[in-house]
Amino acid sequence: MKAIRVHDCGGPEVLKYEEIPVPEPKAGEARVKIQAIGLNFIDVYHRTGLYPLNRPFTLGMEAAGVVDSIGAGVSEVKPGNRVAYAMVPGSYAEYAIVPAQRLVPVPDGIDEKTAAAIMLQGMTAHYLTRSTYPLKSGDTALVHAAAGGAGLLLVQIAKMLGARVIGTVSTAAKAELARAAGADEIILYTQTDFLAEVKRITGGKGVHVVYDSVGATTFDKSLECLKPRGYLVLFGQSSGPVPPLDPGKLAAKGSLFLTRPSLAHYTLDRAELLQRAGDLFAWIQSGKVKVRIEKVFDLKDAAEAQRQLEARRTTGKVVLVP
Ligand SMILES: NC(=O)c1ccc[n+]([C@@H]2O[C@H](COP(=O)([O-])OP(=O)(O)OC[C@H]3O[C@@H](n4cnc5c(N)ncnc54)[C@H](OP(=O)(O)O)[C@@H]3O)[C@@H](O)[C@H]2O)c1
Repeated sequence: MKAIRVHDCGGPEVLKYEEIPVPEPKAGEARVKIQAIGLNFIDVYHRTGLYPLNRPFTLGMEAAGVVDSIGAGVSEVKPGNRVAYAMVPGSYAEYAIVPAQRLVPVPDGIDEKTAAAIMLQGMTAHYLTRSTYPLKSGDTALVHAAAGGAGLLLVQIAKMLGARVIGTVSTAAKAELARAAGADEIILYTQTDFLAEVKRITGGKGVHVVYDSVGATTFDKSLECLKPRGYLVLFGQSSGPVPPLDPGKLAAKGSLFLTRPSLAHYTLDRAELLQRAGDLFAWIQSGKVKVRIEKVFDLKDAAEAQRQLEARRTTGKVVLVP
């Protein structure tokens, strides 16, 4: 089968489109014939080595497809089932081995690209808004990179939960997309001081929560945007990692809460995984949440897809097809 492999960490040029043997599922595992692969920023972190994996490895953490073989003792799925999954390495390939308990059945009416597009960023938007800081009607949330993969979904779900949403984006075209997703206010944070704008928009009060996936360039001002006892939910670092922080700063800025969550800890067991995925599929089927698949690349062109993601040239979701 064909797969995108990493032998040495580095830039997009280290991605190699190679022929490797089709893997066999062991006990508790299923083999998925992959139809669509979700591109995520975590793939970049695996490629560069920021999040180290044992080399050589097949890149990719999200896909949808059809079960074509199962190992001993698998009861969750059977061959022929349409499934999707996230947070299992090795999805940039024609086949992947996945622990059966990580596979989510895909309902009729949801196509494979949509399923592949929501398992990581959609589940993340779900847990951030429902569990990490459960949004209530009347809350004000600041969402950075609001036209990105996670961002566009976060904006829609936050609005659905009754929050007022302020989004930040880098371009006018991205502003339009975030507005169409429901954002009440948009700040072009590459041209305007987002802290001053948040203060102005909230009449100096600040926001209940900041969902910050940008990290290095936004973190300090994100803290300043919060009301007393507000939540800074730092869930990524598209602009680079955040340096260490003195906890005393949280007290000085208003007894703030800081968390650095990961999807893995919000899909701890199969019941939690299926519950979050079930909500998302239902929201998509009812039209409450729209999934924007902006670009589709052939798997062999994964390096170019990553270049565009890193260069801030994408919006919504990018999907690869094997
Ligand atoms: N913790 C979790 O569970 C979890 C789950 C999903 C994703 N994440 C993290 O969330 C972040 C976003 O992931 P995503 O896949 O949804 O990507 P994305 O938001 O679609 O893409 C990244 C966006 O970040 C913004 N950005 C700001 N400064 C940047 C810079 N210097 N370089 C590149 N981008 C920059 C850009 O939007 P503008 O041009 O509008 O600024 C860019 O489009 C990543 O760090 C990812 O690892 C974490």
